[in-house]
Amino acid sequence: MNPTQKKFNHQKYQAFPTIRMDKRQWPDNIMRHAPQWCSVDLRDGNQALVNPLSVQQKLKLFKILVAIGFKEIEVGFPSASQDDFVFVQTLINDNYIPDDVTIAVLTPAREDFIKRTFKALTGAKKALVHLYNSTSKVQREKVFNMDKSGITQIAVRGAKLMQKCANAQTETQWQFQYSPESFSGTELNYAVEICNAVIDVWQPDSENPAILNLPSTVEMSMPNIYADQIEWFCHHINKRDSIIISVHTHNDRGCAVAAAEMAVLAGAERVEGTLLGNGERTGNMDIITMAMNCYSQGIDPQLDLSDIRTHSENTSCLIDIPIHPRHPYIGDLVYSAFSGSHQDAISKCLKSYKTGDKWDVAYLPIDPADLGHSYQAVIRINSQSGKGGIAYIIEQALATQIPRWLQLEFSQKVQQQTEQSGSELPAVELVDLFKKNYLISKNILQINSYQTIEDISIFNMTYSGRQMNIQAGGVGILDAFISALSEYFGLAINIIEYNEQTLQPDSSARAIAFVSLQLAEKYFSGAAENEDIVLASLNAILQAISEYLTDDAIKKVV
Ligand code: KIV
Ligand code: ZN
Repeated sequence: MNPTQKKFNHQKYQAFPTIRMDKRQWPDNIMRHAPQWCSVDLRDGNQALVNPLSVQQKLKLFKILVAIGFKEIEVGFPSASQDDFVFVQTLINDNYIPDDVTIAVLTPAREDFIKRTFKALTGAKKALVHLYNSTSKVQREKVFNMDKSGITQIAVRGAKLMQKCANAQTETQWQFQYSPESFSGTELNYAVEICNAVIDVWQPDSENPAILNLPSTVEMSMPNIYADQIEWFCHHINKRDSIIISVHTHNDRGCAVAAAEMAVLAGAERVEGTLLGNGERTGNMDIITMAMNCYSQGIDPQLDLSDIRTHSENTSCLIDIPIHPRHPYIGDLVYSAFSGSHQDAISKCLKSYKTGDKWDVAYLPIDPADLGHSYQAVIRINSQSGKGGIAYIIEQALATQIPRWLQLEFSQKVQQQTEQSGSELPAVELVDLFKKNYLISKNILQINSYQTIEDISIFNMTYSGRQMNIQAGGVGILDAFISALSEYFGLAINIIEYNEQTLQPDSSARAIAFVSLQLAEKYFSGAAENEDIVLASLNAILQAISEYLTDDAIKKVV
């Protein structure tokens, strides 16, 4: 078949042209501080919702944005939506706008729309009016059927009318913004030409700069090309020091955050985006992700992200879009490690990490605790998990380090269980499983006291509710106990592994002992805690023997 007739045919598309630049600088630049953020949740985000927000819901979202610390918030498109008009008026008249926050509104470059926009802003102390018209080749030629000068005239007429309206509403402190909408598909020299024409009207200065916002209305290229576009634009625009270059990236290729970050390297000072990346099609640039990226590089994000999980959950409810469990930084699963090698590396790094150190933990780009996650919740157990992670959870829960041989043994039991169930084993259940297997006495055997007279040790025990004494000699107390038990049960008992440790390094220290015994050619393990290390060790032995006595697969000698 001719390849052009195929249904899924890449030849239908063409590569985005590269930008010719003698020497691009942005690849060598470093981001040293956060950009000026502008939230467009209530405008671009809201426009993209299946069910746009009501005025009350917008108010809730506005409060969230203020709590996060946005100083510029685009609150709507009041000339196009009556709800937005009412909302803007409510914000102003009911004094919802903090003094350090500037509201922005979007308007197309059309006379009646601009006039209504200024009407919506009546009474505002300060406001940012955002003018746009579409400039890309495809829009000029196929949508508007206009040449470049016709499109430029639309922008210039809009810019002039804005100035006139602003001059008539002097109680408000105005700032202007222009977006050559579809900038990403606009020839660069034309983008500069139309922006210069707007700037010529507004005559901004460094005290009252205008904002030129260069949107990738549709993300059409790799982010390095977008960065080239921004750097080229910055070098060619007039009155650069009277202009704030802003970027507004969409996520069609999944690179909106990368594009905005590279654009900042290329000269952008301001970044527009939304919480969770809500917006048209694949969404806008996710400000939480970009701000957290800054944070993870040691840069103050200039937003309060300390409670960002709560704000994100509340936002998700309002916009009725769930948070993907793998959403960068805030998804439920993003600090979870199931794989054994990851768990092992994480638990080793966490053990050596001390408060005040620079964060350097394998597999965790940021400290989960910063966003309110506990370290225990990071390591999660399923059939892929390894002994390191399992041991970490037990250690955190029981304040003890389980010896390597027991880690190996217990991880097999865990694997058996998780493979059988086919699902995750929550931390509480994992700890219960450990206790059930090693720590909780089956009430079959228990040591009450011991004493050594000359070379003989006498042990007072309870066996199935009956008190009894057994005795033997030996090299040490454990040796004597094993001899006494071997004789009593008529069994060959060998200690294969033995470890003991103190649980807390203070005077009320308790000790824990772990043993593995060989009995009837099988291995049984036990652990026990006590203030007296000898009693802990003897009870650990009895715990292992209890395991033997309750093992159905063995024909008991007693
Ligand atoms: O994506 C876009 O181009 C826009 C403009 C109106 C800035 O949202
Ligand atoms: Zn947009």
